[in-house]
Amino acid sequence: MGPGPVRLRRLRRTAGIRELVAETDVAPRHLIYPLFVRSGGGPPTPIGSMPGIERYGIADLGEVARHISGEGLRAVLLFGVARRKDPEGRDAWAADGLVPRAVRAIRRAAPDLVIATDVCLCAYTSHGHCGVVRDGEVDNDATVERLGRVAVTHAAAGANLVAPSAMMDGEVEAVRRALDRAGHSATGILAYASKHASAFYAPFREAEDSAPSFGDRRGYQIDYRNARESLRAMARDAAEGADLLMVKPAITSLDLLARARRRVPLPLVAYQVSGEYAMLKAAAAAGVVDERAAVTETLTAIRRAGADLVVTYYAREFARWVREET
Ligand code: PBG
Repeated sequence: MGPGPVRLRRLRRTAGIRELVAETDVAPRHLIYPLFVRSGGGPPTPIGSMPGIERYGIADLGEVARHISGEGLRAVLLFGVARRKDPEGRDAWAADGLVPRAVRAIRRAAPDLVIATDVCLCAYTSHGHCGVVRDGEVDNDATVERLGRVAVTHAAAGANLVAPSAMMDGEVEAVRRALDRAGHSATGILAYASKHASAFYAPFREAEDSAPSFGDRRGYQIDYRNARESLRAMARDAAEGADLLMVKPAITSLDLLARARRRVPLPLVAYQVSGEYAMLKAAAAAGVVDERAAVTETLTAIRRAGADLVVTYYAREFARWVREET
């Protein structure tokens, strides 16, 4: 008589034993909360396609940051919603621009909060593309030079991390050089390394009013059919001096996270993007899934695949659920 079937259920029988052998956990410290800052006063403005997410004026940011920090979250990713847009996106590198002012306000109110800033031109250009357009195409090298300037204004204001997201070649190297030249060698780079051209960014483009007015972003973002190209982009950005690597969207990139985890020693950050958030919100509102259970499952799967950190619009709600548990 042999030993019989492998009885995996022995370790599933009680909550106690399941807790004992659980391999993956998600805690507020793993989450980064995206924050939209806009110019002007007045109450926070909602974003139609992203229930619960708002754009804040500078005057409210300090208090919001204090709350976020008090909720056990350690980091925010800041996006500016520009009012003035022009073909070059000039407002993006204004020293007293929206994002530098927001960084200062957050830093004053919540000194320990890690502040990362998105470094791109799409929210500042009148055409909505991520860079400078010449002859109907985004000019790579003219754009990376400007991204360097943008990063320096954010670092000078006190950002801990800058996150170039335009998907231009050489943007990490250009940003690293610009930061070092300006004396900001201590500012880190969170590189959007594997960023697919995705339908799941649509709600974000409403939030940022940054949808391209012609064409699309497939000329610079990665084709989602490609995995080797993503791994190549991650290796390249690491070699150019990135400190952390971002992969996005999250739930459509679990294979990439798993593969990258084995190859790159850098911290991996997955971005659960606006469309992923909107999808979960819609399913929850329709009553077809339990929101907390579904969100926790996605965040856990993203961590299980290999992400150290997750950027998610659910960060504050998740932190609240954890508080309510204890
Ligand atoms: C800027 C940028 C985008 C997102 C993050 N940075 C939009 C885009 O590339 O079109 C998407 C984030 C989200 O959907 O939540 N380039």
